[in-house]
Amino acid sequence: MKIAVIGAGLIGTSWAIVFARAGFSVNLTDIDQSRLAAAQEHLARVFHSAGDENAGNLAYCPMSLEAVSGVDLVQECGPEDVALKQCIFAELDRHAPEGAILASSSSSIVASLFTRDLAGRHRCLVAHPLNPPHLAPLVELCGAPWTSPEVIERARDVYDRAGQAPIVINREIEGFVLNRLQAALLAEALRLVGDGVVSAGDLDRTVSEGLGLRWSFLGPFATIELNAPGGIDDYLHRYGSAFRNITAAPPPSDVWEKENIERVVESWGKTRSPEQLAARSAWRDRRLEALRRHKQSQDDSQMKE
Ligand SMILES: NC(=O)c1ccc[n+]([C@@H]2O[C@H](COP(=O)([O-])OP(=O)(O)OC[C@H]3O[C@@H](n4cnc5c(N)ncnc54)[C@H](O)[C@@H]3O)[C@@H](O)[C@H]2O)c1
Repeated sequence: MKIAVIGAGLIGTSWAIVFARAGFSVNLTDIDQSRLAAAQEHLARVFHSAGDENAGNLAYCPMSLEAVSGVDLVQECGPEDVALKQCIFAELDRHAPEGAILASSSSSIVASLFTRDLAGRHRCLVAHPLNPPHLAPLVELCGAPWTSPEVIERARDVYDRAGQAPIVINREIEGFVLNRLQAALLAEALRLVGDGVVSAGDLDRTVSEGLGLRWSFLGPFATIELNAPGGIDDYLHRYGSAFRNITAAPPPSDVWEKENIERVVESWGKTRSPEQLAARSAWRDRRLEALRRHKQSQDDSQMKE
């Protein structure tokens, strides 16, 4: 399997780790040669410190034309800008091999906005990862109305083989699925803290010491299936009306306004320097790596389904 990763920023560099450690050949490219050189240095360090010899699967290409030669899939990781994605995809569609899948990492721009006029638009889709993809396996696959179902299936197979966890979104929707779930939770959290119901620290602990423990290996449906003796139906029968009452008045849009944000930031009460935030990000990545290894060691495919 051969992959081109276009854009050697935060996400492209992490995708390069995913594909290279799976044993795929990876061509990494960036329009900015200094970014490409920095990525090369970073990746050499990452593979060396992990004692992983798969660094040999990585090639660094100054030109995207050279990067896409002979590839099975292109993972586009350029900036989140629709005009730029249109240019990059037009170039990829012209130069990538006919059978190659063209996937964008876009967090919020649906594929129909940058592939409409392409001859090869049937082979384009969004493959949206969580940051950083080498530590969080989820990837959301979402085609445009004209993306071929066969391409989606082939993409799912590539990400599966790379050790990721692809899901398929059946039609284009703003925020895809992950960010819609995150937005719903964040809006309620902003309301509860902004209204003084709970402190920002205690709200966070509700997830880190409560809900999140189950969520690291069960989704919301698998969770409620176990919270009533008769499964999901039974649970929703018993508790559905309580949840219906709670959700009858959704968080108002002003939870996102300046005044409410100020209340939440005051409740959070911590101001961290960029250096402290970088150190915390590194800590988060170490914890994610440990969790990833733990989950792999506990993998019990019979119980998973
Ligand atoms: N950062 C996140 O948390 C996150 C999460 C999921 C998805 N994404 C998506 O991934 C994509 C990349 O985000 P990022 O955070 O890595 O951005 P980034 O700014 O770190 O990296 C973008 C890179 O693309 C390069 N680039 C610009 N034009 C190019 C071109 N024509 N050809 C090749 N390279 C080019 C830039 O030089 C830069 O190195 C975006 O679409 C973003 O929405 C980001």
